[in-house]
Amino acid sequence: MPGDFIGKEVVEEEMKVLEIIAEQFGFAFKRTHYPHGGEHYIKTGELLPCSILAELRDHDAIVFGAVGHPDLKKGEVEKGILLKIRFGLDQYINLRPSKLYAGVDAPIKKIHPHLPDGYEITVVREGVGGLYKGIGSYDGVIARQEMNYTNAEVERILRYAYELARDKRQILILGFKSNVLEYVSAQQWQPMFEKMGEKIYPEVSAHYAHIDALNGPMLISSIPKEPFVIVTGNMFGDVITDLTASLFGGMGVGASACINPYGTSMFEPLHGSSPKDYGKEVVSPVAAILSGALMLENLGETKAAEKLELSIANVLKQRKIPDFTVNSGVSTQQQTQYITTEIRKIN
Ligand code: IPM
Ligand code: MN
Repeated sequence: MPGDFIGKEVVEEEMKVLEIIAEQFGFAFKRTHYPHGGEHYIKTGELLPCSILAELRDHDAIVFGAVGHPDLKKGEVEKGILLKIRFGLDQYINLRPSKLYAGVDAPIKKIHPHLPDGYEITVVREGVGGLYKGIGSYDGVIARQEMNYTNAEVERILRYAYELARDKRQILILGFKSNVLEYVSAQQWQPMFEKMGEKIYPEVSAHYAHIDALNGPMLISSIPKEPFVIVTGNMFGDVITDLTASLFGGMGVGASACINPYGTSMFEPLHGSSPKDYGKEVVSPVAAILSGALMLENLGETKAAEKLELSIANVLKQRKIPDFTVNSGVSTQQQTQYITTEIRKIN
């Protein structure tokens, strides 16, 4: 489901790369193309009917581009398509890793020059609950918007984060707001986080931090020397992942996975549909291709995922893609070409 504008461009490149990798590793994709997005909505009046949602459920994974159209009300297709898929397929884990690649002038390197290549911050954002449930009202005078979490929703995302930190042998930080959000943070998330750590994952080094303190002082002035995992709620995770992506090189390198471990997961670049850049072949496909690597890993094609990531890392190290902006001087297709050449080379 490439969606709109540059979503179409980057997914095309991503699929080229994925097909080559699949061929090398002896598997193949059976693809269904879904035209849904803002443009399709304008043309047909169809957003994302439940019948399509049901069809999506029959796939192993969704490769997503971006949705958003300037002729539509803000949020219409974002909510009507993207969030509808996340909610409808219960993709409760929104995984957003950021890695320091050699050869990339990541702003975080300027702040922390000692950070080694390969350093990573992985954000585990809760993907379907909290403020995103859309519970609230506005009577013209008072507006309310509820941050709503059931214990079961908190439990399952914390469990995933603990297991990820354990497997990666990394520190786990819960970023929330217990000094202000009495119910969701102080009474629910933080105690559940601490109890789970003590009882089930004592081997994981787990800490609580106020989310604002993570944003500012922690990321900017003092940062753990070792890679770490942040687990947080949907809204805070939305905010902090634009920051982490930017610190590690920009939205053009931010990849994400909307995961339901028991169902169909979706893989999408962090960036939007960017109509102004469409058709110029200037956007970087790297975020989409990295999302493809996340998909391979999620599908159990670990070796293929590793090779794809290594190929991207090599290309970046050689500075063939100097940055991920539209001014990189390297066309969309040329960037893909570098990556596919590298894939073929390190056979
Ligand atoms: C993101 C986006 C979405 C979100 C929007 C487009 C609904 O900002 O994936 O981070 O808020 O989750
Ligand atoms: Mn966002």
